[in-house]
Amino acid sequence: MKKINIAIDGHSSTGKGTLAKALARELGYVYIDTGAMYRAVTLYALRRGWITDSGVDRDALLRHLDDIRIEFRHNPATGRSETILNGENVEEAIRDMRVSAHVSRIAAIPEVRRKLVSLQQAIAARKGVVMDGRDIGTVVMPDAELKIFMTARPDIRARRRYNELIAKGRPADYEEVYRNLVERDRLDSTREASPLVQAPDARLLDNSDLTPEQQLEVALKWVKELTP
Ligand code: DC
Repeated sequence: MKKINIAIDGHSSTGKGTLAKALARELGYVYIDTGAMYRAVTLYALRRGWITDSGVDRDALLRHLDDIRIEFRHNPATGRSETILNGENVEEAIRDMRVSAHVSRIAAIPEVRRKLVSLQQAIAARKGVVMDGRDIGTVVMPDAELKIFMTARPDIRARRRYNELIAKGRPADYEEVYRNLVERDRLDSTREASPLVQAPDARLLDNSDLTPEQQLEVALKWVKELTP
């Protein structure tokens, strides 16, 4: 069967990753979590002390941008692809609330986006890729055969994210998770560089009242229409 590329965009914690991973598994495609790449750059900057309450030391970050190497490595034990930052597995560390709190600021820097987008486009050139993020259907893969824009009500999204953190044994406060999510939506949608917008040819998927199985069914139906 002909391989296509699938772009999944949408707000934070709408289950983009869950759907993207399920699609990749069902179709035998490669899954790329582009949010993980912005999170890895943020972790690097936090560790170097370039992010403080007073802002981001943008000059230092840009001077060292070429020192940041991000890859994905398949972990046969978990069957999942994990994020590697300069040789270190940071899959867990990049999910920390501290990273979540600052990642939108890092993702708003055009030079950072340029670097990560070119990496993402090199991967997409292979076809058979499911990529999720904020600018995939608009900037990274404007030619993707299938574009999905995901959304869900904010309270539902915050509850999902909170449950995810608790399940991982991480201390979490629902109100803080909710505030972080709404603030990230605002920053992601209003930034100048590649803001989060629905591509005109993207299909809207509101999964507020859908189970992961139901949303997969919807998306697989769309794939079948495109790959008869
Ligand atoms: O999907 P996520 O929550 O892991 O993404 C982390 C942040 O990175 C989010 O605030 C928006 C940003 N991001 C982006 O600007 N462009 C992408 N393609 C992916 C993520």
